[in-house]
Amino acid sequence: MSLVHEIDYGTPRSKSEKEVTLTVDGMSVTVPEGTSIMRAAMEAGTQIPKLCATDMVDAFGSCRLCLVEIEGRAGTPASCTTPVTAGMVVRTQTDRLKKIRKGVMELYISDHPLDCLTCSANGDCELQDMAGAVGLRDVRYGYDGAKHPNPGLDESNPYFTYDPSKCIACSRCVRACEEVQGTFALTIASRGFASVVSAGMEEPFLNSECVSCGACVQACPTATLNEKSVIEIGTPERSVVTTCAYCGVGCSFKAEMRGEEVVRMVPYKDGKANRGHSCVKGRFAWGYATHKERILKPMIREKITDPWREVSWDEAFNYAASEFKRIQEKYGRRSVGGITSSRCTNEETFLVQKLIRAGFGNNNVDTCARVCHSPTGYGLSQTYGTSAGTQDFDSVEHTDVVMIIGANPTDGHPVFASRLKKRLRQGAKLIVVDPRRTDIVRSPHVEAQHHLPLLPGTNVAVLTALAHVIVTEGLVNEQFVRERCEWDEFQEWAAFVSEQRNSPEEVAKISGVPAETIRQAARLYATGGNAAIYYGLGVTEHSQGSTTVMAIANLAMATGNIGRPGVGVNPLRGQNNVQGACDMGSFPHELSGYRHISSDATRELFESLWGVPLDNEPGLRIPNMLDAAVDGTFLGIYIQGEDILQSDPDTKHVAAGLAAMECVVVQDLFLNETANYAHVFFPGSTFLEKDGTFTNAERRIQRVRKVMTPKNGYGDWEITLLFAKALGYVMQYDHPSQIMDEIARLTPTFTGVSYERLDELGSIQWPCNEKAPEGTPVMHIGGFVRGKGKFILTEYVATDEKTGPRFPLLLTTGRILSQYNVGAQTRRTENVVFHGEDRLEIHPHDAEQRGVRDGDWVRIQSRAGDTTLRALITERVAPGVVYTTFHHPGTQANVVTTDYSDWATNCPEYKVTAVQIAPSNGPTAWQEQYDEQARQSRRIAPLEAAE
Ligand code: SF4
Ligand code: SF4
Ligand code: SF4
Ligand code: FES
Repeated sequence: MSLVHEIDYGTPRSKSEKEVTLTVDGMSVTVPEGTSIMRAAMEAGTQIPKLCATDMVDAFGSCRLCLVEIEGRAGTPASCTTPVTAGMVVRTQTDRLKKIRKGVMELYISDHPLDCLTCSANGDCELQDMAGAVGLRDVRYGYDGAKHPNPGLDESNPYFTYDPSKCIACSRCVRACEEVQGTFALTIASRGFASVVSAGMEEPFLNSECVSCGACVQACPTATLNEKSVIEIGTPERSVVTTCAYCGVGCSFKAEMRGEEVVRMVPYKDGKANRGHSCVKGRFAWGYATHKERILKPMIREKITDPWREVSWDEAFNYAASEFKRIQEKYGRRSVGGITSSRCTNEETFLVQKLIRAGFGNNNVDTCARVCHSPTGYGLSQTYGTSAGTQDFDSVEHTDVVMIIGANPTDGHPVFASRLKKRLRQGAKLIVVDPRRTDIVRSPHVEAQHHLPLLPGTNVAVLTALAHVIVTEGLVNEQFVRERCEWDEFQEWAAFVSEQRNSPEEVAKISGVPAETIRQAARLYATGGNAAIYYGLGVTEHSQGSTTVMAIANLAMATGNIGRPGVGVNPLRGQNNVQGACDMGSFPHELSGYRHISSDATRELFESLWGVPLDNEPGLRIPNMLDAAVDGTFLGIYIQGEDILQSDPDTKHVAAGLAAMECVVVQDLFLNETANYAHVFFPGSTFLEKDGTFTNAERRIQRVRKVMTPKNGYGDWEITLLFAKALGYVMQYDHPSQIMDEIARLTPTFTGVSYERLDELGSIQWPCNEKAPEGTPVMHIGGFVRGKGKFILTEYVATDEKTGPRFPLLLTTGRILSQYNVGAQTRRTENVVFHGEDRLEIHPHDAEQRGVRDGDWVRIQSRAGDTTLRALITERVAPGVVYTTFHHPGTQANVVTTDYSDWATNCPEYKVTAVQIAPSNGPTAWQEQYDEQARQSRRIAPLEAAE
């Protein structure tokens, strides 16, 4: 296997539909209007020398290496900045051009240190390549680059270095930071010969605005900006295209390897979700895969107070299987269950739910999607008929108005945020509905037209007020509604939202958002052209999460913003495979493709292939499993790739549930917090060590490809197979592709999906079947999946979690760019440099009232529990609201969150907790006790003792 070389066309693709034909070096070539001569030549197979041009950014025309001659025109224009015209005749290689190029290269090389043999980019340097391409043989002005400005090496960023002595001032990095990433962290300081790239106010990269996305490193043609891993290991020798295992954007990467070692992860330009971009997590934070704390041997223990004992895989499987059989014999078939992972592949998730339904003989399967996007599934299936977002990410390029609700894309979905910001810089308008002033509200060259800083818990009221304005001001797209939606339900809904109690003026009293702001936002959404809604967990993780999703769906239908590019309802999924985990039948009431377990016809389909009868009763959800454990009726659980102790609400209740079980089997990379309560530990594998697929937030199924041998011995799918075999339920697959074939046979929206088709097409957005053999980028074109769209009344019901004298502040939670979820992976990378602890954001007014200063330890208490963390005083949060991330187990932010949950799906109400804050001296008794218990629980007996 060799390196995957992507062609650099020099300038971005033109999106014009009109075509132009020209001649380049005697060859006729037809390209879209607006294409540069450089790109047209490349399409014709001629590579014009270049240094300052690359196809990820707009042409700049500074290096003068790409000059060409055009018949009938004087001079030698730069091919990167000159667009083609019909009938143009271009020559790229003449004596005059050769001479000019050699002269240009002579100047560059004379200003460059010639330490090629020891340079980290040796063999992967465009300056070297171009010297070869122009036939440079002599440099008249000396070689040493001694006069080159050199402010010194900057190694402050944990992942890349900046060596100004090698900079050719091409500004590719500056343009990448602006155009691709949208951060504007870099400038070219000084002028002419003294030009030098500078981060921020001439400060080290680490102290600047830089978010370490790596776009500048990718764009740099020399070793000036270079990955530290390349400097350390050397240039890669082979690459494999795979998919990021962090967030729901689903970026494609080339894993560039040397032997079994990852040299670097390079964003793949053909990746349809990311189009060649990345964020710090996928690009750089893979070090956890080889972290010393990774567990590589299976372990068991009889009691959770015992130290772990390393055992053979066989012993671990047999022990877990015998325990599960014993529990089922003693307490009944339904006394065990399992949890699938939104981080594992579709194939692995499918296998776990199959094991539970067919092997355990019950439907006690649930997934962590329960705690994030289950309301999306419910809300969208009720209104539109399918449980997924409606658009692809490319759709944002056609959007005129973007409404972001309860999402923080620059932190949570950074690559999508970069694409969105690009569209906003082109002139699209922005509405942000969020209690916090998130970065997207105001960032370089982007400013929201309207920010609705609503009080946590009032989403439904505000969305219904937006609908009130749209209906009462005559902004409904009646033609769309009449053609595409159920008219009676619409009328009922229109009458409901028009009631005075749903007016912006009334809702302002509840939500804190000025009525006029609501009115203006509604008018912009309804009349501003193509309007798209993107939302996140700030919508779903509420007691009215499902109602909020339905309110969003109503708005899109009422304004006709559904069923074409540029519009739609788009949940930004948190984890890499949260969409896939839901699609694969991870919920207790649904088989793959969201078909209810009580349907005889559906069950029969699965039963005939699996050869066992299936229980027709929906099983237990995670909170019900924990309740049943405390009640003594649920005693065994198999948890693949989830850390429910840290990620689920009301930690003490989760701990009590786990502690009450007789056999907890955890399969993970690390001894996570849940493993403190486990009896069997199956060491898991990373995404680099297995084959499979992930499905991102756009319903895009993408391949995950094995690039190295599993350090633990098995891919996660193999572990499930072997555990099932030990239980006496044999599932026979030689490769995950066969699991996908079975999924395709059993799931109507997947019938056209196979590894062969995925390799052919790159990726596929479901539904993919006879009707849509190449998948479905945009859903509900011409009609809803359920037939007619259904308006549903969205009565606002205030959460039971209320502030009062005891708990006067509202806590809401979220995440940060550099960390991921419970942090198990990112905390074990250099990303800790960017975010080493969870902090509590508090408004200066609230802080002052409580005598809290920036950086002080504070105790945060709710009716569920208390914890301590350090304060960050900021006006990002409104008075009365506090905010924290939940990436560090030491903080245990979920000790504070309550057991309130969405009425339809049990999705926990993470986003609203009434709390009080007080200065503190240090950890609470619970934190200290927890730390000690975790320390005890992670003991591994020395091998001699185990034998
Ligand atoms: S790493 Fe990204 S954010 Fe940082 S300077 Fe480079 S392009 Fe800009
Ligand atoms: S750092 Fe690299 S990309 Fe940036 S101007 Fe210098 S050579 Fe060009
Ligand atoms: S974490 Fe998300 S945005 Fe970042 S590289 Fe991975 S998939 Fe892309
Ligand atoms: S590549 Fe065209 S001017 Fe540099």
